[in-house]
Amino acid sequence: MMSDKRKFIAAVADIIRMPQVRRLRKTIHHHRFNRYYHVMHVAYMVFMLCRYLKYDWRNAARAALLHDLFYFDWRNSRLKGYPWMHPVIALKRARRHFTLSAMQMEMIELHMWPIHADPVRMPRYAETWVLIVCDKIQTFCEYIDIPVRFIRRLTGGLFH
Ligand SMILES: [Fe+2]
Ligand SMILES: [Fe+2]
Repeated sequence: MMSDKRKFIAAVADIIRMPQVRRLRKTIHHHRFNRYYHVMHVAYMVFMLCRYLKYDWRNAARAALLHDLFYFDWRNSRLKGYPWMHPVIALKRARRHFTLSAMQMEMIELHMWPIHADPVRMPRYAETWVLIVCDKIQTFCEYIDIPVRFIRRLTGGLFH
């Protein structure tokens, strides 16, 4: 039996190896955490939850890993409307490298729900709801900075 971590890594190995994704390590995301750390934890959470719920965990974990694929620092950026804009940018970047399914595109595009470009558009895929929830939980954890040790223990320090 493959362990959870091995199964996760096997599902996303090609994405993790990409220089475009590794570059996220050098980008601060929330608080003192880099964006690679953020997307890895969100993706792992999505993977675990989708497996438990018997959703499409492989494709969901892959999309979750790409949901914040952008490099600017949103705190210093003069870009207006960061919450609305960055999912569109991430999707555009992700599509340069991968053929994404409708579900994966929706996951990236609507992960900021209910704050996104087209608020009337509701998520259609259950996996999108999983990402919306996991992204918010992980963001909260990064802001309060408490459960880091807990998360690290959970993931065996794999992502940091
Ligand atoms: Fe985001
Ligand atoms: Fe995120």
